[in-house]
Amino acid sequence: MQDKLAQLEQKIAEAQLGGGQKRIDDQHRKGKLSARERLHLLLDPGSFEEIGMFVTHRSHDFGMQKQLFEGDGVVTGYGSIDGRLVYVFSQDFTVFGGSLSEAHAEKICKVMDLAMKNGAPVIGLNDSGGARIQEGVASLGGYADIFHRNVMASGVIPQISAIMGPCAGGAVYSPAITDFILMVENTSYMFVTGPNVVKTVTNEEVSSEELGGASTHAGKSGVTHLTAVNDLEALQKIRRLLSYMPQNCEEKPASLPFALGEEWRENLLNIVPENPNQPYDMRDIINGLVDADSFLEVHENFAENIVVGFARLGGRSIGIVGNQPLSLAGVLDVNSSRKGARFVRFCDSFNIPLLVLVDVPGFLPGTDQEWNGIIVNGAKLLYAFSEATVPRITVITRKAYGGAYDVMNSKHIGADLNFAWPSAEIAVMGAKGASEIIFRKEISEAADPAAMLLQKEKEYQEAFAHPYQAAKRGYVDEVIDPRETRRKLIKGFASLENKVSHLPKKKHGNIPL
Ligand code: HXC
Repeated sequence: MQDKLAQLEQKIAEAQLGGGQKRIDDQHRKGKLSARERLHLLLDPGSFEEIGMFVTHRSHDFGMQKQLFEGDGVVTGYGSIDGRLVYVFSQDFTVFGGSLSEAHAEKICKVMDLAMKNGAPVIGLNDSGGARIQEGVASLGGYADIFHRNVMASGVIPQISAIMGPCAGGAVYSPAITDFILMVENTSYMFVTGPNVVKTVTNEEVSSEELGGASTHAGKSGVTHLTAVNDLEALQKIRRLLSYMPQNCEEKPASLPFALGEEWRENLLNIVPENPNQPYDMRDIINGLVDADSFLEVHENFAENIVVGFARLGGRSIGIVGNQPLSLAGVLDVNSSRKGARFVRFCDSFNIPLLVLVDVPGFLPGTDQEWNGIIVNGAKLLYAFSEATVPRITVITRKAYGGAYDVMNSKHIGADLNFAWPSAEIAVMGAKGASEIIFRKEISEAADPAAMLLQKEKEYQEAFAHPYQAAKRGYVDEVIDPRETRRKLIKGFASLENKVSHLPKKKHGNIPL
C-alpha cells in the first residue's frame, strides 16, 4: 500500500504541474497567474476539492497520443466562497494553450451538471486558445455541450465567467450566456473573429486589445460587466459579486444581521439641485441610501445614463436601477434600456428585490435611436419590469416624464411601493416643451411671445411639475422627505419580504429581443 500511495502522490504532483514549471513561469511573465493559483485565491482557503485530475484527451491525430497531460488543460471541482458551495473550472493555458478538447469539455460539463443537481453557482475562469485544433469537430461538439448546459442553467443557478486570457471564436458564447462576465485588463480579450480575419474581410487594421480587450467590452460593446486590473482583483471581485446572490432560484440571498436604528440621512436633502436642468450624480443618492460601502456597480462604463448594481439595505441584498442625470440627462436610449432590462431580469431570476430611482426626461430622440430600434429596446426594459415578481420599490427623485415614467417601474406595471420626493415632476413632458405645444396659438399671437411662453411655462409647472397629481390618483403611494427615504425603504422591503406573485401560466414569454 505504501508504494501505491507514493505512486499516487507522484501522479498528483505531476498533474498539478500542468504543462510544466517553465510554462507556469511564462504565465507569470505575462502578468497572469496559473489555473491553480487562481482557484486558490478564488476559493476559501483549503476548500477546493478537485474532480477529474487524471483525465487525458483521447486524440490520436497529429502525434497527440505522445502528448498527454493529466487534467487536459482544465482544473475542475468544487469549493466554497464565504462558506457557500460553488462549482468551478479554471482553464490551464500551459496545456495546449488551454484549448478545449472533447475530454476537457466533458470535465466542464461534469461540474456544470453537479452544480445544477446541487443548486450551487458555477464560476468559470476562462483562459483558452479555443477549440483544440487537433480534435476538429469533437471539440466543437464539446463547446455545444457546454452552451446547452449554460442555457439550461440560466435562471436556475448563478453563472459567472472570468475572462483571464484569450477567448475567441465561438468560445465567447458560453460566457455570453452566463449572468456576469468579468475581464482582466491588458491580459484578456474576447472576439468572434480576430484581427487577422477582420483585416482580410473588412480591411480594417485593429489590435486584439482594441478589438476585444477589457476596456472595449466594458465601454463600447457592454459585453463585460466588470473589469479588474489583474488576476487577483478579478478573483476578489467575483467573491464580492457572489455575496449578493442566493445559491439558486429557489433561495433568497443571505441577509446580514441588522437592527433598525437612526436611519435619517440629512445629506440626502441637498443632492438634487434646485434648477431642474442641473445634473447630479445618482450614485450620491444611492450611496446615501444603502448600507455603508455596500454598493457594487456593474456595467459601470457602458450606457452611463443608467446606473445598475447591487447593494445592501438594512443587511438585505437588493438590485438598484437608477437613471443617471450626469450622463445625457439620464435619458433612456437603446443601450441603457438593454442594460437595465438584463439586470432587472437577473435580479428577478434570483429573488433579489429591486429599488428603482427615477429621474428621467424621456426617451432619446433622433434617427440614430429610431434606426437602432429604440422601440424594441425600450420595450425590453418595460417588459423586464412588468414581468418581475420580486419586491419592487420606486423612488422618483425628480423628473418622470412621458413613456419613461411608465417604463421606470411605475405602479401601473406592477411596482409594489412608489415614493416621490417633493422635487418630483411627474408629467407628459417638461414645462417648456409642453407649453410650446399646447399654447402655441396664444404664444404666437401675444405681443411679447417670449414673455407669454414664460408665463405659460410657469402655469404648466404649477399645474403638473410636482408629485401631487400622481399622489392624488394613488400612482404614488407617498410623497416623502428625502431624509427619511432610507427608513421608508428598509421598512418597505421588510413588508414585502413574503410577497407572492405569480405570472400567468405560459411556456415562456416573448420578450422583444
Ligand atoms: C491547440 C493550441 C490552440 C488550439 C493554442 N495552442 N491554441 N493548441 N488548439 N486552439 C497551443 C499552441 O500551439 C502552443 O503550443 C500553446 O498553445 C501556446 O500558444 P502560443 O501561440 O504559443 O501562445 P500565445 O502566443 O500566447 O498565443 C495565444 C493564442 C494563439 C492567441 C491563443 O495560440 C492562437 O491564436 N491560437 C489559436 C486560436 C484559434 O484560432 N483557436 C480556434 C478558434 S475557433 P506549443 O506546444 O507550441 O507551446 C474556435 C471555435 C469554437 O474556437 C467554436 C465553438 C462553437
